[in-house]
Amino acid sequence: MTSPVFTIERFLLHSQPDYARGEFTNLLYDIALAAKIISVKTNRAGLVDILGYAGAQNVQGEQQQKLDIFADEVIFRVCDHTGRLCAMVSEERDEMIPIPDEFEKGSYVLVHDPLDGSSNIDVNVGIGTIFGIFRCVDWNLRGRIEDVLQPGRHLVGAGYVLYGSSTMLVYSAGQGVHGFTLNPELGEFLLSHPNMRLPEPPAYYSINDAYYHRWSPGVQNYLRWLQGQVEGDNPNLSSRYIGSLVADFHRNMISGGVFCYPAESLKPEGKLRLLYEAAPLAFLMEQAGGYASDGRGPILDIVPENIHQRVPLFIGSRSLVEKAEHFIRTEDGEQLT
Ligand code: AHG
Ligand code: MN
Ligand code: MN
Repeated sequence: MTSPVFTIERFLLHSQPDYARGEFTNLLYDIALAAKIISVKTNRAGLVDILGYAGAQNVQGEQQQKLDIFADEVIFRVCDHTGRLCAMVSEERDEMIPIPDEFEKGSYVLVHDPLDGSSNIDVNVGIGTIFGIFRCVDWNLRGRIEDVLQPGRHLVGAGYVLYGSSTMLVYSAGQGVHGFTLNPELGEFLLSHPNMRLPEPPAYYSINDAYYHRWSPGVQNYLRWLQGQVEGDNPNLSSRYIGSLVADFHRNMISGGVFCYPAESLKPEGKLRLLYEAAPLAFLMEQAGGYASDGRGPILDIVPENIHQRVPLFIGSRSLVEKAEHFIRTEDGEQLT
């Protein structure tokens, strides 16, 4: 018996809790629409003039790629007027984005990295979008900074889009992780990976070892353990590093493994952002049976102090992430990671 054809819209309606008023479900539709629009541009990046730098820098001090700006604009314009949000945060914008006064406000907050893996755009390697959804703290007020500086534990949904050999949207609303693949002919995301769970044993480790000399001793020895060079339980892994967090993360969701972006002497807080990269992916990873840590404790417990706060990130199969915590705790002591 062939499996039923579930579009993301039908799946969302089918799985949303009865009490839902549809606002959350409609927000996920909106994100799916934005993903389709970005996917069309991404798949033609080589043909239309959106390759390369836009000539501007973002708040991170990073050269903005034209596709970064395009993706940020698409998500804002798809979501700013729908009445589902009270505020947004984007990697590409300095401040929290309030909902324009002329539009009705909603009950949710959308935090997102509109285009992750920008350095890979010009070399045609997988890139993505990462998003997280919180409830507004006070539903009667328009968006405030308190609505966005929430720990990952408060997320009510999260997901990513991977613009790769196919375009996939993977999300969780707290009832498991579900993957949808875009059928470009239909313009529909179809359920292709229901109830994604991390397989055991894990297959890969993913880390940029060009920074080895700048890591703490604990992280350096953790890498040696991952490579089977430390006596004892050899994890028997292979190495992959794509340089797009979403692509490295998705591979580990499918095959099992760990992705690491440790703190290092030039980036004492790490590189990846807590609010719209680490926390949404940590939410997904825990829903899939894995774990995410900053090297000391759960990513999901960290309360952001600012919207672009960076954190060290170890995320994936729980046994591999807890081993990173072990090496850092025992070899780096209480020093900051
Ligand atoms: P973004 O393009 O949104 O700035 O994210 C890039 C991040 C992440 O995607 C990836 O894992 C990491 O940068 C790669 O950094 P390195 O080039 O330092 O390894
Ligand atoms: Mn990113
Ligand atoms: Mn980005």
